[in-house]
Amino acid sequence: MREIDTTRVLCSLAELEVTGGRGFAVGEGDWPLRGFVVKTASGVAAYVNLCPHAGHPLNFRPHRFLTSDGNLILCHSHGALFARDSGLCIAGPCAGQSLTAVAIEVVAGYVLLGADVDVERLANDPL
Ligand code: FES
Repeated sequence: MREIDTTRVLCSLAELEVTGGRGFAVGEGDWPLRGFVVKTASGVAAYVNLCPHAGHPLNFRPHRFLTSDGNLILCHSHGALFARDSGLCIAGPCAGQSLTAVAIEVVAGYVLLGADVDVERLANDPL
């Protein structure tokens, strides 16, 4: 079995079963990279937790990123709706724009941050 780099673990697949999404923070200091992982039709995807409309975090409550039916990502600030698998805004004030994707991989039931992700750059220039 492939060894897991525990420094890159964002969440387990089992944790995604609770709300369909899971927030994470990676990095040092007051401004880490804040993002979230969501289940998709083909697996999982991860995005920076900033809405392209006004730059707000998408969720108000921990790990709550989806609509009540679980089909779409919801920005709780002004209601933008995003496709889970692409991050594309399909309705709302930023229709046609996209969430910023974060590269991930799944290993042995865990979602890991991609090995080549530049955390500092994404944290400082996330949109
Ligand atoms: S900040 Fe997300 S819809 Fe306005």
